[in-house]
Amino acid sequence: MCGIFGYIGKNVKVSALIDGLSRLEYRGYDSCGFAGVHQGRFFLRKRPGKIAQLKKELKPVLNNQFGTAILHTRWATHGEPNKKNAHPHLGGAGNIAIVHNGIIENYMKLRSILIQEGVKFLSDTDTEVISHLIEKFYKGTIEEAVYEAVKELKGSYALGVISKREPDKLVVVRKGSPLIIGLGKDGKFLASDLPALTSLVKKVVHLEDEQIAVVSRCDTKVFNFQREQVDVKIEDIIITAEDTGKKGLAHFMLKEIYEQPQVFKRIQSLYVKNNRVCFPNINMKESYFKNIKKIYITACGTAYHAGYVGKYLLEKYCNLDIELDTSSEFRYRKVNLGKDNLLIAISQSGETADTLAAVKEAKKKGAKILSICNVLGSSLIKESHGFIHTVAGPEIGVASTKAYTAQMSAFYLFTLYLSQVKGLVDEKQSQEFLFDFEKVSQYVEDIFKDDKKMKKIARKFSRFGCFLFLGRGINYPLAMEGALKLKEISYIPAEGYAAGEMKHGPIALIDEYRGVVCIAPKDELYEKMVSNIQEIKARKGKVLGILNRGDTEASTLSDEIIYIPEFKNQDFAPFLVAVCLQLFAYHVAKNLKCEIDQPRNLAKSVTVE
Ligand code: G6P
Repeated sequence: MCGIFGYIGKNVKVSALIDGLSRLEYRGYDSCGFAGVHQGRFFLRKRPGKIAQLKKELKPVLNNQFGTAILHTRWATHGEPNKKNAHPHLGGAGNIAIVHNGIIENYMKLRSILIQEGVKFLSDTDTEVISHLIEKFYKGTIEEAVYEAVKELKGSYALGVISKREPDKLVVVRKGSPLIIGLGKDGKFLASDLPALTSLVKKVVHLEDEQIAVVSRCDTKVFNFQREQVDVKIEDIIITAEDTGKKGLAHFMLKEIYEQPQVFKRIQSLYVKNNRVCFPNINMKESYFKNIKKIYITACGTAYHAGYVGKYLLEKYCNLDIELDTSSEFRYRKVNLGKDNLLIAISQSGETADTLAAVKEAKKKGAKILSICNVLGSSLIKESHGFIHTVAGPEIGVASTKAYTAQMSAFYLFTLYLSQVKGLVDEKQSQEFLFDFEKVSQYVEDIFKDDKKMKKIARKFSRFGCFLFLGRGINYPLAMEGALKLKEISYIPAEGYAAGEMKHGPIALIDEYRGVVCIAPKDELYEKMVSNIQEIKARKGKVLGILNRGDTEASTLSDEIIYIPEFKNQDFAPFLVAVCLQLFAYHVAKNLKCEIDQPRNLAKSVTVE
């Protein structure tokens, strides 16, 4: 949430800085701004709307060069998205400029103290208190002032601070929100996430929590909040600029949907050897897993839906009790966790505030943490005792696709791993399980071949003003994810429901103007799904069936059908269902001319509560 970009060095063109910021636009896109130091003065431009608007405004100076600059793309928390609330914010005396990602929880108190001291506020943001505090404590060096200001702050913040009096310095702070420093030959870059740095530098420093870095053209010094200098850990960037591009496709979301077969293959080749599952970073002994009776799972959004699939799998194959909750609820529940409990936390970014807070809370109570995460070096991985890296590669589209099915893959393999450790499966059963897992990528490729039909169906269903997604058993979470995907990017109200619950309310919605997506592969609950579809047809609902090829019952009731191949073990159907629902949402949103990669009000990395 909110993207920070910055530069300190010899000189860089404004156009390159804007390009860097654009690569962070998935983090927020309601307003943006630029502040650079030029001949001892600030050059400041801010505006509501997307970065393209800012770029337009900066057109006359795009080739100008700056040696010190900070930029920001905002997802509004405090104060509506307009020019005065856009970052960067200046201190009252105009000596310093800052960009901020996070929330200052005690900003009201700080604001009223500063007002009493005579400070005039120009915005409604929480951020502005930081700029005034730094200005207040400024006695000639930015870092001194930042140290003092940080002592006053409660909440989460990643900060980039520059001063027109010290143009050879960029001071950055990380507490709870990510920040990375990119080390180039002629200068250093600052970014909230790696995709902004891949085309600029090869080496980076991931700032850790509660660290302050003083960055100049030739030097990077890192300190903890106690002002002790700490070692700088320089790492290679392992993703390429190509990984973060669209590969010629119209949207990141489509590119990421198409990447899924490769992701499944990568996961299998990394974690399966001779029909045994092995996770190199799980860091917990097999004996620990052997005796485990109950597991807690927590995550947000799409990752939560992956956790839901995991719950069904672990209950069915590993005889475990599973408790699942969204992180925003879990962190405040009085769960009796102890040292014998395992919490699995799932997150694409590894930076989601609620998931991190849930993990910290569980750790405090002594629980062990296993994370399923897509970003190495993320806060979540650092907080966990062990982790499974989902190796999906950078995901830029705000609506999660490949990271979701990669999280599901991690759960399928973790289920097999636990079954093997607990002696619940023999060699043959393991082989059969992996046989179906291996088929997933090929079957997904088959679905891609039906693209024309998918587009046609999406065109037809785009006119409905409301959708119900229904599924049962392991496909119930898929119904929730299908509805989430559709509403995220097309803004059509959609609900995901357990089909058996339909009679307890949602059936009231059904008439000839509602689209009802029925997930009914041939599994042990198929007949029950068919009965539900009958009930929908009796009320004239328009049914889109996700069915197996060769279906003879549900197909006769459906208005349109997306066919999926049949697995030997139909518990693998969710992979295919997921891909169909992603493509369906994508094409509906495209028909409606929605902003697919940057849906309104959303941001990819939710670093605030
Ligand atoms: C946001 C994103 C979702 C994502 C969720 C959790 O809501 O838009 O796509 O599923 O955050 O993010 P995480 O990075 O923890 O998986």
